[in-house]
Amino acid sequence: NKILILNGPNLNLLGKREPTIYGSQDFESYFEEIKQKYEEVAELYYFQSNIEGEMIDKIHEIGFDFDGIVLNAGAYTHTSIAIADALAAVTTPTIEVHISNVHKREAFRHKSYLSANCVGVMAGFGLYGYQMAIDFLLQQQ
Ligand code: DQA
Repeated sequence: NKILILNGPNLNLLGKREPTIYGSQDFESYFEEIKQKYEEVAELYYFQSNIEGEMIDKIHEIGFDFDGIVLNAGAYTHTSIAIADALAAVTTPTIEVHISNVHKREAFRHKSYLSANCVGVMAGFGLYGYQMAIDFLLQQQ
């Protein structure tokens, strides 16, 4: 079971970035926790980029081989037809995750170009949403 967590722009600043919205834990330490937690059942990989094209390259690289992608595309969620097309092109199923409840926030965050090419969407559960997505992917195997 190979699962990639793919984080997009500004998510490298988790812990420091608007902590009232995104929490005070950085993603690297969270990733270490879940990597250990799922050690017996899944190989977890993590990639973060602030660059749209690098995210697309990563989707192409693993998207015919891995068992799941847990994707938080950050603001590209609301803008990127190119990431949506990349998800449509590959065979690995993707779960869309948002740390915050985007539907409680500005109207421009309510639209996702990616959801139509994802199995499901998680929003508002904090970092725990990543684990919910992984649990779902694992029980699908
Ligand atoms: C986010 C929500 C997006 O609207 C925002 O641009 C982000 C993070 C979230 O995880 O809640 O960068 O995807």
